[in-house]
Amino acid sequence: MTDPLIPARLAFAADGTPFSPDYDDVYHSADGGAAQAHHVFLAGNGLPARWQDAARFTILETGFGFGLSFLAAWHAWQEDPRRSARLHFVSVEKHPFSAQDLAVLHAPHADLAPLASELRDAWPMLVPGLHRLEFAQGRVVLTLAFGDAAALLPQLRLAADAVFLDGFAPAKNPDMWSPELMKAVARLCAPGATAATWSVATPVRESLRAAGFAAEKRRGFARKSEMLVARFVPPRSLRPPPPRPAERSAAVVGAGIAGAAVGERLAARGWEVTLVERHLEPALEASGNHAGTFHPVLSSDDSHLARLTRAAFTYLLEHWRQFDAIGAAPEWRRCGVLQLARDAREEAAQQAALEALAPPLDYAQRLDARQASACAGVKVAAGGLWFPEAGWIRPRSYARALLRRSGARLLAGREVAALEQAGTRWILRDREGESIVEAGAIVLANAADAMRLAPSEHIRLRRVRGQLTYLPPIGTLRCVLLRGGMVLPPIEGITVTGASFDLDDTDPSVRAESHEGNLERLERIVPGASAEFDPRQLAGRTSFRTVARDRLPLVGPLEQAPGLYGALAFGSRGLLWAGLGAELLASQMEGEPLPLEVALADALAPARFALKARRRAGSTASRP
Ligand SMILES: Cc1cc2nc3c(=O)[nH]c(=O)nc-3n(C[C@H](O)[C@H](O)[C@H](O)COP(=O)(O)OP(=O)(O)OC[C@H]3O[C@@H](n4cnc5c(N)ncnc54)[C@H](O)[C@@H]3O)c2cc1C
Ligand SMILES: C[S@@+](CC[C@H](N)C(=O)[O-])C[C@H]1O[C@@H](n2cnc3c(N)ncnc32)[C@H](O)[C@@H]1O
Repeated sequence: MTDPLIPARLAFAADGTPFSPDYDDVYHSADGGAAQAHHVFLAGNGLPARWQDAARFTILETGFGFGLSFLAAWHAWQEDPRRSARLHFVSVEKHPFSAQDLAVLHAPHADLAPLASELRDAWPMLVPGLHRLEFAQGRVVLTLAFGDAAALLPQLRLAADAVFLDGFAPAKNPDMWSPELMKAVARLCAPGATAATWSVATPVRESLRAAGFAAEKRRGFARKSEMLVARFVPPRSLRPPPPRPAERSAAVVGAGIAGAAVGERLAARGWEVTLVERHLEPALEASGNHAGTFHPVLSSDDSHLARLTRAAFTYLLEHWRQFDAIGAAPEWRRCGVLQLARDAREEAAQQAALEALAPPLDYAQRLDARQASACAGVKVAAGGLWFPEAGWIRPRSYARALLRRSGARLLAGREVAALEQAGTRWILRDREGESIVEAGAIVLANAADAMRLAPSEHIRLRRVRGQLTYLPPIGTLRCVLLRGGMVLPPIEGITVTGASFDLDDTDPSVRAESHEGNLERLERIVPGASAEFDPRQLAGRTSFRTVARDRLPLVGPLEQAPGLYGALAFGSRGLLWAGLGAELLASQMEGEPLPLEVALADALAPARFALKARRRAGSTASRP
């Protein structure tokens, strides 16, 4: 279960210092927050000197607050001509502020104003989990982990070079300084990592020592005579962080949205990327539909599916906003999505999910049938969940935007027939055995065809036929409606509705019988809307989803061989999942902090099926 996220309350102490009424403590020294951040956290960790000339530097913080230490670190990095190529800043926060409150808190810090304004523009919805934001053309990467540090730190995967320990005072906020929490911090430290804090309280020193840090006192900030700096002295058993790949070239098989998204994320990290696509143009298979929807999923137990869709949804809102900002946007709209309840049971489940997560209204809320109809612009069959920031996207425009932005090489009209490993390199060959391209790593993003190129006894991918029906505009529909099927508002005069879900049906044609099924679905969403259409006269499109046994995507290293990765099986949610999936994969390939909790990354790992098989075999073997 995930606890609902409770935002921080904006308040100030008598001297104007930001203050937490819940913890009865100030957010920073009354002698200046930014100056304190410089003295305690930056200088205390030997910064900026330690990030100079590094390819990457990673800072972990406990307690993001209103981001003053982050802004001070980013500013110092920006001003440093010898700054690291990339700066990762990962911070845990249980009670984030709203963007409006951040504006009030940032206002006194004039020298940080441009950076603070960028931070607020990218500020995510206040929902639990990890949120990855990028600044400075992707060279400053902020990963915000919203939730309790005790629960979230063990869910992070990163190798920190420096740690900013910044809970409220240990007496008022003991959870943030406990021995368990420091051990969780230590597990995230690279060898040679340092930590700094303004507190010299005995429990803090003891927790640090017990976790493997050698701490010493230094002159404190302003009126404080002392502070702590610590060096992580790793126990012998500590595994070193994953090495960065020596050769940063990748061949991506398939230029649907999955391949295009992986190409873009790798290219953003300086990889040399070649996409190989069997058709003459990208996104002509599953990613070739007129349009599709993106929206989160809610469940009262906050299942992996609910958490993954939440993470992917908030990720892509920010990612696409960045595309918009550089004028390379895909065609998409946040027109809102209404997920109508199918029956009283689903209505109760929706209500229970809302109560359990208590999300902000901009994430999800419930509307009754009358309110839903007013929102939709047409009379709908039921009430349901309203996702005001969700909407539709045109997948081909998305793939094109990704390819344009990445600058990756696209070899179109080339079908990969075989993969060959030559030492540490890979060669992709066509049917005649000719080499198409060579690279240090391969990413299979070619949907169900992947297992033909890299067979696995554990992974079974299935194709599911899906036919959409393309109709003229329906009434004055202005948002996306879901209820078993979906109907989109008109896009360039076409209303997309559907879709059939035909397991083990390989027929690529457009069938009247599938249109009929789509019209029935439409009728259950907008009663009366299907009456005027003859299924034999309708246009539409058939393509194939790829699904794994557990219906979750496969993202990560493939067990079949080293240097082989997958971004596959996005099922009926590829438009939502491909973006975060690509960011996860690129982070794994680079050995960077992951943008998802470990439990969620593991739920997507292609190795999960082999792992389950091994566990099953183990438990059978141990049975008497
Ligand atoms: C009817 C229908 C409706 C959908 N609606 C939605 C929706 O509303 N929202 C949503 O999020 N998702 C939706 N989806 C799912 C979404 O479209 C897919 O998850 C997504 O397009 C998958 O992208 P992909 O890149 O993995 O696969 P694809 O787009 O199929 O791309 C795979 C690419 O690999 C290429 N390829 C394959 N083998 C080789 C080879 N050997 N050599 C070279 N190239 C190769 C193919 O030509 C293809 O271009 C829908 C799917 C269907 C079928
Ligand atoms: C001193 S403030 C941090 C100030 C911040 N570094 C800044 O630069 O603005 C301490 C922060 O820790 C957060 N916090 C307290 N307990 C927490 C917990 N258990 N898990 C995560 N965050 C917590 C508080 O909400 C608060 O924002």
